[in-house]
Amino acid sequence: MPDTYQALPGQPTSLWLATTPTTDLPTLQAGLTVDVAIVGGGIAGLTAATLLKAQGKRVAVLEADRIVEGVTGYTTAKVTSLHTLIYDYLIDHFGEEKARAYGNANQTAIELIASLVKDKAIDCDFIRTEAYTYTDAESDLDKIRAEVKAALKLDLPAAFVQETPLPFPVKGAIRFSNQAQFHPRKYLLALARDIPGDGCYIFERTTVTDVAEGDPCVVTTEHGKLSAHAVIIASHYPFNDKTLFAPRLTPHRSYVLAVQLNEPVMRGMFITPDSAHTMRSQPTAEGDLLLVGGEGHKAGQGGDTVARYQRIEAWARENFKVQTVKYRWSTQDNGTLDRVPYVGRYTPISHNVYVATGFGGWGMTNSTAAAMILCDLIVGRENPWAELYDPNRVNLTSVPELVKQGVDVAKHFVVDRLPEATPAELEPGDGKIVRTDAGDFAMYKAEDGAITALSPACTHMGCFVQWNPAEKSWDCPCHGSRFATDGRVIQGPAIKDLEQIDVNQQGVVE
Ligand code: FES
Repeated sequence: MPDTYQALPGQPTSLWLATTPTTDLPTLQAGLTVDVAIVGGGIAGLTAATLLKAQGKRVAVLEADRIVEGVTGYTTAKVTSLHTLIYDYLIDHFGEEKARAYGNANQTAIELIASLVKDKAIDCDFIRTEAYTYTDAESDLDKIRAEVKAALKLDLPAAFVQETPLPFPVKGAIRFSNQAQFHPRKYLLALARDIPGDGCYIFERTTVTDVAEGDPCVVTTEHGKLSAHAVIIASHYPFNDKTLFAPRLTPHRSYVLAVQLNEPVMRGMFITPDSAHTMRSQPTAEGDLLLVGGEGHKAGQGGDTVARYQRIEAWARENFKVQTVKYRWSTQDNGTLDRVPYVGRYTPISHNVYVATGFGGWGMTNSTAAAMILCDLIVGRENPWAELYDPNRVNLTSVPELVKQGVDVAKHFVVDRLPEATPAELEPGDGKIVRTDAGDFAMYKAEDGAITALSPACTHMGCFVQWNPAEKSWDCPCHGSRFATDGRVIQGPAIKDLEQIDVNQQGVVE
């Protein structure tokens, strides 16, 4: 296969990362004791640290790489409680009271972000705007109308409209007013600046390898141990989990282009009912850009991911006057079986270890709500949303989804073990699972012809990884771990790199 990666438009990085400085914070000083250790330096972890520090807690954020460079660095950053179509589903599956709690949690999260931006005078392009789930298909109108009815029943700021700021007609849309958007890294780097001090810390390049519950809990990292009275695991996918969350989380990938238009960029945030297309504007030093995304799929099962970027570009050019593509990036979200995140005590018998995961693509508000819930639980306050978000809830309507997820993982343990090629068939810039007399390898051939061979068995639970041509990474189809071409972990739950194998020494390649 020719190296189409090189032909993809735009810089291969998110607009958020490209327009903010990188951080360089210290690694853990072993032997510390804090009140709360927070694993993960994304929006959930940094917001929780901010709230807990304000309550007088000594916190330490432990980030495996650099803060706000994981999933939060690759979001579309829509600060809204309009989560495509969810309220009609929630009333149906959880009842009106809990559906109301979900709406209330996410609306309150918008207001918390707004007040932090105001109180800390954070320059992060925060603006109030409207969110729409729109359709151009007559067949989706009933779903849209049902969602409007459900949202209004829950006192959410909803309306049915047929006129939107989009430059093309729609059949109908649900509109939420007084929502918001911002630059997530500008916002979170500002929160992060205020965390260190008064017994609080942020440590980067500090991978946590184990958490032992107790009083205190002991957090083990590659740089030593830290003691904490409570631990929050906010590492997107709970790191190294094999049993509690693996059967209940579905990682999902999607793609974004930031494009410059030859026309004014409309205000508002937009998504279609099937999430096939999503849009919003973002001001930059070079003028307003349009973020346009979609093409989602289960993680590690994207097939020709290059074609996904190409289809987004073609759709953008059909619907907008696109001048040029400035940036391209992809992201990964975790869905839950019943569409509500898992936030609260890690297991039914945990006292001091907490988790926040499964934000379902709506991480700006759901993770902010998660930080509020966890702060309340840790300081011993009642929280009105804790029961709904409880990770240990029993929801029998989730059982069919649980079975489906189990079957999908089982299939990948078997089907993906079939080799795709021999070493001779590898083109420069390409990766494949190859079979040789010495065994099967995840093999990548660089532009200069250098071969890197890895064990194809994911270090999480052993599924065979798959090549992702658009991102040049090895992605696991079972629980979404991702690895660089040299085997390094890019994304968990795996915490151990893929093993490199010296195939030259074994005479596999010449
Ligand atoms: Fe679980 Fe790979 S992520 S087996």
